[in-house]
Amino acid sequence: MIDQLYRKAVLTVSGQKQIESLVRSRGWSVAQRFVAGESAQTAIAAVGELAADGILSNLDLLGEFVASPEKANEFAAQVLHLLDAAHAEGIKPYVSVKLSSVGQGQLVDGQDLGLTNARRILGKAREYSGFVCLDMEDHPRVDQTLEQFRVLVGEFGAQHVGTVLQSYLYRSEADRNSLDDLRPNLRIVKGAYLEPESVAMPIKADVDANYRKLVYAHLKAGNYVNVATHDETIIADVQHFVLAHGISKDAFEFQMLYGIRRDLQKELAAQGYRVRAYIPYGRDWYAYFSRRIAERPANVMFVLRGMLKG
Ligand code: FDA
Repeated sequence: MIDQLYRKAVLTVSGQKQIESLVRSRGWSVAQRFVAGESAQTAIAAVGELAADGILSNLDLLGEFVASPEKANEFAAQVLHLLDAAHAEGIKPYVSVKLSSVGQGQLVDGQDLGLTNARRILGKAREYSGFVCLDMEDHPRVDQTLEQFRVLVGEFGAQHVGTVLQSYLYRSEADRNSLDDLRPNLRIVKGAYLEPESVAMPIKADVDANYRKLVYAHLKAGNYVNVATHDETIIADVQHFVLAHGISKDAFEFQMLYGIRRDLQKELAAQGYRVRAYIPYGRDWYAYFSRRIAERPANVMFVLRGMLKG
């Protein structure tokens, strides 16, 4: 409950325009702990650094809730550029995309622009033997994202597109069951948005219990799971679960965010687990940064100290 109140307070305050402009103007040096840089080139350089430690990468151009079709197409063009740039460096691209950033919910020529742009991105990702994960956003977008995911798996195959389920949502268990026929590649996360109690569990212990339930069910069904968490207890439990059920290390991977628990990322990779870091980059870092602050009270002090210094 305290966690929920803390998250609510941070996300409410960070939503205020004055706070946003203050943090945007003075906070970049602090945000760099969580964001790899502003350009595709800096993000690609981070891929190389992580690879030296045996860690795989997931590139994410920051941006969400784009308001016009022009902006959405511009954003999609930047993602296509990222795929080209990664491919040119000999990297099999693995990227994450928020459908709201490429026009989800905007109708153009009778077709949802988010889906149209996702098809463009996936066409190129497939050409480069790459992978696109459709990030999960706030709860009003879940239905449409899962529907579009189903369409895209049908067109491009589950080896090229995956999506995310959030364990704080009551609906996620039913969603996982309903997707099973696709043999989907799913990332399981706890969930990072400010959600009402009518849709999301307010108690952290329940969110954690549901997290395990979703991961175990997806592994047992024989599907690929991206165990995306920094929670050491859950990570240890998953390690025990796969050992006890004879599930191979190829059936899943651990995923963590850039700048968070790099020590643990390295340790797991050294133990022979597949580990992937989510590397966000770009100028539109504010919303992503606010969610990272909302996850951990100690991060507020880190931001305040950094802003006062710099
Ligand atoms: P929890 O919050 O319980 O934290 C466990 C421990 O991890 C903490 O005690 C601390 O040590 C460390 N930690 C966690 N957050 C930290 C932070 N910000 N700074 C420093 N330390 C921190 N969400 C979503 O809604 N949609 C999505 O598509 C995604 N995608 C995604 C991809 C990947 C690769 C990851 C790792 C996470 C996401 N998330 C997400 C975010 C996710 O929902 C969740 O908010 C964060 O992962 C934090 O939760 P944990 O599972 O780490 O556990």
